Amino acid sequence: MKIQIITLFPEMFVKVFGSSMLWKAQDRGIVEYALVDLRQFGIGSRKTVDDTPYGGGDGMLLKPEPIVAAIEYAKSQVAEDRSARVLLPTPRGKQYVQSDAKRLAAAGLNGGDLIVVCPRYEGYDERVTEYIDEQFCIGNYVLTGGELPAMVLVDSVVRLLPGVLGGEASAEIESFQDDDQNIEFPQFTRPEVFRGRRVPEVLLNGNHGEIAKWRAEHSHKA
Ligand code: ADE
Repeated sequence: MKIQIITLFPEMFVKVFGSSMLWKAQDRGIVEYALVDLRQFGIGSRKTVDDTPYGGGDGMLLKPEPIVAAIEYAKSQVAEDRSARVLLPTPRGKQYVQSDAKRLAAAGLNGGDLIVVCPRYEGYDERVTEYIDEQFCIGNYVLTGGELPAMVLVDSVVRLLPGVLGGEASAEIESFQDDDQNIEFPQFTRPEVFRGRRVPEVLLNGNHGEIAKWRAEHSHKA
């Protein structure tokens, strides 16, 4: 699965994609990341990517031409036997949930690559949305740009690809469980007593039926 990120700050992704499971996924050939520097598609000798909003207002908006040129370039980098969905993180998008991660990972296994466009500054010219397949929001708060949401999305998709974490994740993709069913139960490791707090007795007694029951009862949000 190829994942391309269009951003003014490619360096932000280098450590994240180069560490831990995201790195392993690329190392194992399961996923390929490509960073597309939006600045390279800027206009004129100054490589301008932003401008003031029509109608007035604070801040600068990303101009449509560089973004659309970068999307077209990224699409040209998609293999002939594959297609790519273009995603845009924005507070105005639909809430991103676990079933979206599963859908995008399953699509990845079936020839569907990803292009994620990261907006910056105060926003972007609305006309770019005609070149976007999905707008997504990772939570009810406003960040300074789309880079962190893009990283969240990539992490949530890549960990589901078979071979990244382990065997069970691929089955998880197939089942498309409800979003709330993904909450894990609390876990404990040694020592048995930490600063006076004991590991729940039921986890120590080796009774798998009772342990499963305890875990089911405790699989809810804090
Ligand atoms: N850009 C800024 N804030 C965002 C959010 N919460 N989700 C997605 N994109 C964003």
